[in-house]
Amino acid sequence: MIKQFVTTLKSELIGAMKNGGPVNAIEVCHSRAPVLAEKIGGEYGATLTRVSMKNRNAILGVPNAWQAKVLQDFEARVANGKAIETLKYVDIAEVTGGQQFRMMKAIPTGAICLTCHGESIAPEVQAKLTALYPNDHATGFSAGQIRGAFVYTKPL
Ligand code: HEC
Repeated sequence: MIKQFVTTLKSELIGAMKNGGPVNAIEVCHSRAPVLAEKIGGEYGATLTRVSMKNRNAILGVPNAWQAKVLQDFEARVANGKAIETLKYVDIAEVTGGQQFRMMKAIPTGAICLTCHGESIAPEVQAKLTALYPNDHATGFSAGQIRGAFVYTKPL
């Protein structure tokens, strides 16, 4: 399911970058990513989101307590030499009304991501990001860092 989300989003992102450049592609992340995550999650009776300690979306991107703990643990594992691609977390939580399956998977920062999440962002890209996200924390990344994580939850 995460694979389906990543593949669809990445191909839309790359397509938009090629067609109208990064300023145009911001729209894909801004409008399409949350909708796609909800749609694909819904198809599986689950919830799919993306969170980050340095988030851009001030509502959807902010981790709650257990998610922040997992992200911190991912950072510690990377500091100990683990590859980001291998980082996963799975548990079953007691929640109101029953149990919930919870899974997180780390998202690596690739070269293409730096256009909008890196250290030197083109002025026209930065201007649009600032207009859409006045409290943007998701810049200053370099390739090979953890950008955030997918969060998958499903009632059992
Ligand atoms: C064209 C600009 C652009 C590119 C390229 C881009 N992003 Fe983003 N990214 C955004 C925008 C805009 C958002 C906010 C989306 C929203 O409102 O939910 C975002 C949000 C995110 C989030 C959600 C957490 C948060 O910070 O709110 C993650 C995770 C993320 N991006 C990872 C990546 C990764 C990994 C890549 C490279 C494969 C990438 N992005 C490439 C613009 C971009």
